[in-house]
Amino acid sequence: MGTTVGVVGAGQFSGSFLPLFRSHPDVDGVFITDHQPSRMERAASQFHLDGTFPSFEALLQSDVECVAIFTQRWTHGPLVLEALEAGKHVYSTVPMGISEAEIREILDAVRATGLVYMMGETSYYYPAAVYARERNSAGDFGRIFYAEGDYVHDMDLGFYDAYRFSGGEHWKETASFPPMLYPTHSIGGVLSVLGQRAVSVSCLAVRDDRDDGVFDRSVSMFDNDFSNATALFELAGGAIMRTNEMRRVGYPSHIRESRYRYFGTEASFEQLAEVSVWQDKNGVTDISGLLVPQPLPEGEPGHGFARVHDRSRLPASYSGLPTGHEGSHHFLADDFVRAVTTRTLPPVNAWVAAGFTLPGIVAHQSANRGGERLPVPEMGDPPATAR
Ligand SMILES: NC(=O)c1ccc[n+]([C@@H]2O[C@H](COP(=O)([O-])OP(=O)(O)OC[C@H]3O[C@@H](n4cnc5c(N)ncnc54)[C@H](O)[C@@H]3O)[C@@H](O)[C@H]2O)c1
Repeated sequence: MGTTVGVVGAGQFSGSFLPLFRSHPDVDGVFITDHQPSRMERAASQFHLDGTFPSFEALLQSDVECVAIFTQRWTHGPLVLEALEAGKHVYSTVPMGISEAEIREILDAVRATGLVYMMGETSYYYPAAVYARERNSAGDFGRIFYAEGDYVHDMDLGFYDAYRFSGGEHWKETASFPPMLYPTHSIGGVLSVLGQRAVSVSCLAVRDDRDDGVFDRSVSMFDNDFSNATALFELAGGAIMRTNEMRRVGYPSHIRESRYRYFGTEASFEQLAEVSVWQDKNGVTDISGLLVPQPLPEGEPGHGFARVHDRSRLPASYSGLPTGHEGSHHFLADDFVRAVTTRTLPPVNAWVAAGFTLPGIVAHQSANRGGERLPVPEMGDPPATAR
């Protein structure tokens, strides 16, 4: 017998995952709820779902086993906690939370309940991260002592529309979401390769000057006017990580919004929008072709898989279904369902998710204190009983 999944949020992103939960061979039913009934009904009909719930609370009271949170980015922590407390396994879109307290509460709840928690961090399966993990495991970098992760997503390239859709008439209050509170792509793509945690950070940020009410502290529900931020982290293994979170930037975010660089004592890897290179002490190898997601067949939305992706582990039923975010969606949906049905820790479990999220929260605090170097609290490792 398979499991059942209740998706919370019928906005723009969940539509990419509903078909994947729906067609997974180990999922017996997919349900949805949204504050906005019309969105919920539309998704239920478009994706041939098994039912709807009038509210999040009604979903929690049902016998649906898993809850997948696809709500606005600042809302996840409390919803995840309620779902765990109601006995549900949880898939959460990024970020895990927006405060240290939310993250600690989720870790405590996962520890106490033994339920599965997974954060759907797409960068874990970005071709650059997959490739660099393989080369690092093979020892090809030597020791990686410095790495960079950038999430370079200009507000003009989709975010104004997304926040309007998301926030309704008060959208400007939320469009100022602090860049460093959405750090999981820039940090995750580095730490998923290095396997280290951040121990301290100093962050500088740029105050926005467009003067259109977005990134305006008198409007912002986050009291935030930073639109670009750069953080330098000390890692536990002695390496250095630099991340950029940019929201006002002349850069083709639609071509590549996340990009990475890893420098080792023997070799290095650098990624630009369309070009990726592997370099050692002898020369440069252009590896762009390995990492570019291939086009999907005519008429299929989203982007395809790159040559570095091992699709052999995916359910046969996923063949031909759209993927997205550099081919990551299929792997994430499958990771979660596998973790639930086999009662094992998913790759981006609660402790890994905390390691990708908390450093950004502290970086934002550092930026608010003029770049003061601050410690990133240790969140520990999963206990043997954790899922
Ligand atoms: N690469 C990535 O990992 C990636 C990419 C895109 C979006 N995301 C994440 O996905 C999430 C969803 O993004 P989106 O663009 O679909 O947002 P959205 O605003 O389009 O949709 C969110 C939906 O959730 C509903 N909702 C909010 N709270 C609810 C509640 N308590 N009960 C029921 N419904 C509720 C809203 O009514 C809305 O329809 C965000 O957290 C975002 O960060 C991640």
